[in-house]
Amino acid sequence: MRVLIEITSMFELGGGTGFVGRALTQLLRSRGHEVTVVSRRPGKDQITWDELSRLGLPPCEGAVNLAGENVLNPLRRWSEDFRQEVVTSRVETTKTLAKAIAEADHPPRSWVLVTGVGYYRPSHTTKYTENSPGGDFDFFSRLVTRWEAEARVPEQTTRQVVVRSGVVLGRDGGAIAQMLWPFRLGLGGPIASGLQPFPWIHVTDLAGIVVHALEHEGVGGILNGVAPSAVTTSNGDFARALGSALRRPAILPLPGFVVSAVFGPERSVMLLEGQRVVPRRTLESGYRFAFPDLPSAIRDILS
Ligand SMILES: NC(=O)c1ccc[n+]([C@@H]2O[C@H](COP(=O)([O-])OP(=O)(O)OC[C@H]3O[C@@H](n4cnc5c(N)ncnc54)[C@H](OP(=O)(O)O)[C@@H]3O)[C@@H](O)[C@H]2O)c1
Repeated sequence: MRVLIEITSMFELGGGTGFVGRALTQLLRSRGHEVTVVSRRPGKDQITWDELSRLGLPPCEGAVNLAGENVLNPLRRWSEDFRQEVVTSRVETTKTLAKAIAEADHPPRSWVLVTGVGYYRPSHTTKYTENSPGGDFDFFSRLVTRWEAEARVPEQTTRQVVVRSGVVLGRDGGAIAQMLWPFRLGLGGPIASGLQPFPWIHVTDLAGIVVHALEHEGVGGILNGVAPSAVTTSNGDFARALGSALRRPAILPLPGFVVSAVFGPERSVMLLEGQRVVPRRTLESGYRFAFPDLPSAIRDILS
C-alpha cells in the first residue's frame, strides 16, 4: 500500500507584507506551505516584531527577512533621520529575527536574508560574482555589510543563505510601477546617459530563489539575485525595452542633476550608477530562472 503524506511547513517572513513579500507568500502557499508574517502591525496570519522579541520564534521550518524602509521613496528627503530609518529597519529587524532563531527550542532548518547588490562597487566594466570583494566603500555597501553581519546564527542547526538582490521588476511595486505612467505618456527614457549597468531581476525569480534556498539542503552562503542577462543590461536597454513593449518612444532622458536634486547625491548613486552582476552561485546551486532575459520579463509584467 502506498501512503501519500503531504508535508506542509511553516515559514516566518519578516517584511512579508511588502512587494517581494507578497510574491513570496503567494509562491510558498501555492506549494502547500503555511506562512506567518512578522510586521510592525498585528493582522491575520501576522505577528509583530515586539511579539517576536517577547515570545520568541513560533515553531517553523524556515525564516526569511525582507523588512526595510523603501530607500527610493521620492517623498522622503535624504535627511539624517531617514538614513537612520533605512539602516535600522534592516539591521534591527535582522538582528531580532537572528536572535529569535538562535534562542529557539526548535530552530528552523533554513534562514534567508535578502540584501542588495549595492555591496559591489558601481563600475561599467567589472563583473561581480558572489566571491567578489565589496561592502566597504559607501553608505549602501557598508549598510549591506552590517545587515549581513547581523544575520549570523549557529550553523549547526540552521542553514543560512543571503540573496543579494538587484532592482526588482514586477507588476505590483518596485521600479516599473513608479515608471509606468511617464512611459505610457511617451515621456519615458533612460536615466542620465543610460550607459550605467542595470542589475535587474523579475520578482517571480527573486521569490523563486528564496524558496529554492529554503527548500534545498545543499544551498548555502551568498547568492546573487539578478537575471543571467542582467550582466549586460544597461539602464538605456531597460528604457528601450519598456518603451518598445508599451509601443511608446523612450527617448527623453531624465537628467542626472534632476535625479540628484530629488534624491540627494548619496542616494542618487542607486539610479545614476550600477553594477554588472553575475548570478554564478545561484545558477550553480541548480536554480532555473523563469525570466532570464529582459524582453520576456517585461512582456510578463505588462501582460
Ligand atoms: N524592491 C527592490 O528593487 C529591492 C532591490 C534590492 C533589495 N531589496 C530588498 O528586499 C527587501 C524587500 O523589498 P520590497 O521591495 O518588498 O520592500 P518594501 O515593499 O518597500 O517593504 C518591505 C516591508 O518592510 C517593512 N518596513 C518598511 N519600512 C519599515 C520600517 N521603517 N521598519 C520596519 N519595517 C519596515 C514593511 O512591512 P510592515 O509594514 O508589515 O512592517 C514592508 O512591507 C528589502 O529589504 C529591500 O531592501 C529590494
